[in-house]
Amino acid sequence: MKNIWQSRLGGTKPILIQAPMEGVTDTVFRQVISKCGKPDLFFTEFTNVSGLISEKGHDSVAKRLKFSPLEKPIIAQVWGNNPQDYEKAAKLIIHMGFDGIDINMGCPDRKVVKKGSCSGLINNPKLASEIIKMTKKGAGGNLPVSVKTRLGYNKIQTEEWIGFLLKFDLDAITIHGRFSRQMSRGDADWEEIGKAVRLRDKTKSKTLIIGNGDIKTIQEAQEKYEKYLVDGVMIGRAIFKNIFLFDKNIDSEKVKPKEKLQLLLDHLALWKKTWGDAKNFSDMKKFYKIYVSGFPEASDFRNKLVQINSIEEAISTVSGYIKTFL
Ligand SMILES: Cc1cc2nc3c(=O)[nH]c(=O)nc-3n(C[C@H](O)[C@H](O)[C@H](O)COP(=O)(O)O)c2cc1C
Repeated sequence: MKNIWQSRLGGTKPILIQAPMEGVTDTVFRQVISKCGKPDLFFTEFTNVSGLISEKGHDSVAKRLKFSPLEKPIIAQVWGNNPQDYEKAAKLIIHMGFDGIDINMGCPDRKVVKKGSCSGLINNPKLASEIIKMTKKGAGGNLPVSVKTRLGYNKIQTEEWIGFLLKFDLDAITIHGRFSRQMSRGDADWEEIGKAVRLRDKTKSKTLIIGNGDIKTIQEAQEKYEKYLVDGVMIGRAIFKNIFLFDKNIDSEKVKPKEKLQLLLDHLALWKKTWGDAKNFSDMKKFYKIYVSGFPEASDFRNKLVQINSIEEAISTVSGYIKTFL
């Protein structure tokens, strides 16, 4: 099987990746993004390894790993604190057709950190190393293994922490340029991401370094690539401001309101087809601003839409609005 990281996704530079965002970048939204401008690589939302392999938890977490061919190549991102469960999860993930498995060592959420998972692993290198080893064992050379992390836990620990991760011959390390306790406060520290690249070069490791944090446009990603020599750039929240982000030929300011509302209709229809009753419809409301913006009545129409609690009514309201007003 082709190693998606080491093949550098066909030589594109920098590799542009849509960041995983739990509750946001599900299969439905990733398909919409693909149609508007496709990144080189997608990640799934983070998925708990123990839930995935257990009979009881499987159905509730497996929907996070749903994907369609349109989203390929795609990496399954996982989290947890039990190394054996990572091994079993990696075996399952191979059979699901993913292009890689990524271990979340960056989420700062108290609930997960308290259990020693995610960015809690920055404080527990022994467990982090067991998790990487068991994931690799499960992957058995058939699935690339990567880690997404931060610069440190309480403070910046680039040399200590990234230096440690570089010992494991990972296919890629994505670094969100903040430490865990910072959550999303302050600016992402790209100088430290650049330091991680130099550290990698010094050790002659083949691990790709992907930078992440506060990037708003492809141009900005290109600048970071040129200045810090990262192999790739991962972009998260900027997709809320510009759904056409990954297509450098589309000027989102020039996209007509009607076209954006038509995209919302597509998103709603795919949501209905994919999730039906399996997800709470209120999850959909966070997306409205992406599509309902840039025209004088947008805010009033958004206010109307958020009051609606059924997908059928939302679809007919948006269709009606397109016909009547635009
Ligand atoms: C709503 C939300 C959910 C997120 N969920 C995940 C996740 O499941 N896994 C992960 O590794 N990072 C997650 N992140 C972090 C992002 O992947 C990314 O590292 C962070 O937003 C910084 O990048 P940005 O400034 O480009 O948004 C999430 C971020 C947000 C805002």
